[in-house]
This record gives sequence, structure tokens and C-alpha cells, in this order.
Amino acid sequence: MFRNKNYHAVSSSNFFACILQKNCIENFVNKYHFSIQLSSLKLTRSDKFSFCLLILISFIFSSCQENSNNLLQTTTNSNPTFEDIAPIIYKNCTPCHRAGESGPIEFMTYDDVKKNVNKIKFVTQSGYMPPWPADDSYTHFIGERKLSKEELELIKIWVENGAPKGDESKIPSPPVFYAGSFLGKPDTVIKFLKPVPIKGNGADHFYIVKLPLQLAKDTFVRYFEFVPNHRKLAHHINGHLISYDAGKKKEVVSGLTHSLDEFSDYKDLFKQMNILNDDGSFPVLNPNTVYYLPGYMPVNYPDGIGGYKTNKTSVVLLKNIHYGPSNIDVLDSSYINVFYGPKPKRPIIETQLGTFGISKIEPELILQPNQIQTFHTQASLPGDISLLSVNPHLHLLGKSFWAFAVQQNGDTIPLIKIKKWDFRWQYYYTYKNPIIIKAGTVIHAYATFDNTDKNPFNPNHPPKVVTQGEGVRSMQTTEEMFQFIFSYLPYQPGDEKMDLSK
Ligand code: HEC
Repeated sequence: MFRNKNYHAVSSSNFFACILQKNCIENFVNKYHFSIQLSSLKLTRSDKFSFCLLILISFIFSSCQENSNNLLQTTTNSNPTFEDIAPIIYKNCTPCHRAGESGPIEFMTYDDVKKNVNKIKFVTQSGYMPPWPADDSYTHFIGERKLSKEELELIKIWVENGAPKGDESKIPSPPVFYAGSFLGKPDTVIKFLKPVPIKGNGADHFYIVKLPLQLAKDTFVRYFEFVPNHRKLAHHINGHLISYDAGKKKEVVSGLTHSLDEFSDYKDLFKQMNILNDDGSFPVLNPNTVYYLPGYMPVNYPDGIGGYKTNKTSVVLLKNIHYGPSNIDVLDSSYINVFYGPKPKRPIIETQLGTFGISKIEPELILQPNQIQTFHTQASLPGDISLLSVNPHLHLLGKSFWAFAVQQNGDTIPLIKIKKWDFRWQYYYTYKNPIIIKAGTVIHAYATFDNTDKNPFNPNHPPKVVTQGEGVRSMQTTEEMFQFIFSYLPYQPGDEKMDLSK
């Protein structure tokens, strides 16, 4: 992936440095051990001699270190140009920093990058960008965005050297993206029939939005990709697919297109939205077909894994569309990219621990003001599963998150660790190969919340008691949730070898 030879040299020189260092340390340890033996055996050696020996040893040790440093310095690319930097930026930054995506500045060309070098150095060195909250020393996922030590060093040197462009003809061309999608050109796009008004009153808004889908024939949809029009406000979207059986529904376009979600009687609202079957009965919902969280990037599973049967007349019902507080009135016209696919062989199951989930949070999720508290939840599944993706979900008071599974023989399977929770980056983390969780294995999740004034995201000053609230209202940004959401398949032999990145 990295074409720069010098770049590779960094890691190999590290390797040699390491070997060298190791010999030195062994030398040192041997000698030191010897000197300890000397003293502990109380042999008749003078203190002066031992002292000289120690000086000698430390000299050997430090010269070894110097050698290895020299070796490092001579082979590190001390004069990187944009040719060396572009591949790092294009792979790790440009997917978000391009027109229409969430990053506020574009990194498509040398000039784009050059204009922002100091910012780039700062955000990369501090670990703020690229945003990847999961601890990569614990578990790995597809699409991991984490800069290596060598990449960080290279960016730093490049910026400090004045960000030279180098030989223009050697700069790789910027990646080609499809505007408005992470997955490429969709087969069809479904739009909001009418823009949804978001009031600038500083409050959270919960909406239900209907997006009709009229197809030439019944088909299979592999993926629905929600593309928010106001990324900063789109807090969380969860939508269902209603696929009407033949003859059950004449048309789905008429009726209300959106409504505030503040009803207790959905039947009446669904009638006004023209969602019920023509005979007045409730249609079947295929839950959680469309999904979005800040920073979320769609998961594209291999052929035959997941996907939805979608009939000619269908509706995507964004039943939980949650906009965070805004200070100005805006109109939202988000849309959904639809990607067709083959008939799904293995439907994906999604489940969750914690808030609204299959397991209880202990102790009860009540966050006392001025306290940092840790909560736990656990569950075991009745059958063997192949775990595909995990999605930890907390709100603004989240501080850290940790999930793992303990097998019946006592072995632990690491799942995900987030040392520093950031509400803005809530990915659906997908493993490269499914993780097999046998029946009886206990899945544990721990979440720590910081309800003190020191938490810069704490919406309450002074801090106050925060709970899960109730019903849909518990999804207010200012209330809390503790969820460990995950997607899996019932286990089939060979699943452990399935490559989910393909
Ligand atoms: C997952 C999407 C994503 C990726 C990947 C990403 N960024 Fe960002 N970046 C954002 C978003 C969104 C913001 C604005 C929100 C914020 O500042 O928290 C941002 C903010 C920034 C800023 C501050 C901009 C400003 O003027 O305020 C810089 C600089 C930046 N990113 C550089 C980078 C670099 C360099 C990389 C790669 C090493 C990178 N980003 C990778 C999404 C991303």
C-alpha cells in the first residue's frame, strides 16, 4: 500500500535496532548479574573494581543505544515529500475529508493539505484524527484507521521541514469516490418527500419519516445507506423496512410524510401516514434495516450475508430519527442509497445488552453528579453464534467502554475496548473473521461514565442526576444509555474462516 521504500526501511531499521538493543540488554543483564553475584557472594573484590565494572557496563550499554539510534536516524526518511505523505492522507483522512462528507476541510490535493499542515500535525500527533476510538492493541476491525508510529513520525518530519511537494510526477493521484456514498454508486436513491423542519430552539427533536420505495419488481436489497443532510444534527437514525405483500397496498405516496414522534397511539399516526395495509391491519416491519450514528460508516458484508427481501411496494420508515439541538431553523432533506443484491442466504440477527436490551444494567443506570461510575451488564446466548460486528453506544457522559466474553472453560475472548469514549464516533466495528461464541459463553460489557464538571461534554453545569429516562425520551442526548449492540449469524462450521472484508 505504501510505495515508499524509505518508509519500509523505518520498520526494518527498528527491527535491527531492536535486535541490537536486545543483545546489549542481555550483555548488560549478564554483567550486572555477575556484579550482583560478586557482591552477594561477598568475594574479596574491592568496591572500586565493582564501580569500574558498572561504569564500563553502562558505557557499553549507552554506546549500544547510541548505535541503534544512529542506525534509526540514518535509515528514517528524513526528507519526506508529498509523494510519501499523500498515501497516508488518502487512505486515512480523505474518505471523510472530501466534498459532501463530514470532515470540514478537504484533503484531495497537495494544496488542500499544504494549507492545513499545522492543523494536520496537531490533530495526528494528539491522536484526535483519524478518529478511531477502539483500542487497536486489544482487537482489530475492518477499516481500522490508526496511524502507525512511523506514519506519525513521517508526517511530523514533513511538516517541520516545510511540507515540501517534491517531484510532482511521483505524487499518487487522489482516490476516486462516489459523491454522496461510502459504498459507490447506488442502484436507486430514495429521498425525503418533503424536507423535515428542525426548529432552532436548542432542544432535541424526534421524528418519524416515511420514504416510499416503488420498484419495478420484487427484489433483494443488500444495503440501505442513510446519508444525512445535516451531519452535525443527525444524532441517531433507526429505520424499518415495510415490504407490502402483493395485493395488500395500492400506493404508499399519499398521506403524511413526516411527523414529530410524540404519539402513544401509533395506529392513528400510521393511518395518517398511509402506512397500514389497505384493509387497516398492521403491516410487518423488518426492524433495524437502516441505521446511522455520528461517524458511522456502512458495513458491507460478503454476498449472501444479510440483506432484505424488498417487494415492489415498500416503505422505509425512519421510526427513530433523532436530531440533536440546533440554534437555527433548518430544513433536512436526507436520503437513502439503495443497493440491490443477491437473495440473502443467511439473515443477520441483531441484539443488544443493556438499555432496551436482553440484559440488566448493574447497578441501575443512575449517574450521580460529580461522580465517575462504572456499570456492568452480561448475557449468554442459547446457541453458538458467529459474531460479525459490535457497536458500543453511550451518550455524552460516556468515559470508557469494554466488552469481552468468558467461555465455559474460563478462557476470555476480547471483543472491544474504548479507552476514551467520544460521542462523535460511534462505529459499527466489524471483525475481519467472525468471532465464534459458543452457547453458554458469557458476554460482559462495562461502561464508565464521567458525570463531573471535568467532562467537557457534560451538558449540565453544575452536574445533575442523569438516568435513562423512559421510552423514546430516554434517547435524549442529555439522558444516558448503555448499550452493547451486536450483529451475528447462527454459527455454521467454517464461519471462523469467513473473510468479512471481501
Ligand atoms: C471518520 C471521518 C474522518 C476521518 C477518517 C478523518 N477526519 Fe478529520 N474530521 C472529521 C470531522 C467530522 C471533523 C470535524 C469535527 C470535529 O472537529 O470534531 C474533523 C476535523 C478535522 C480537523 C479540524 C478541522 C478544523 O479546521 O476544525 C483536521 C485538521 C482534521 N480533521 C484532519 C484529519 C486528518 C489529518 C485525518 C487523517 C489522518 C482525518 N482528519 C481523518 C472527520 C474525519
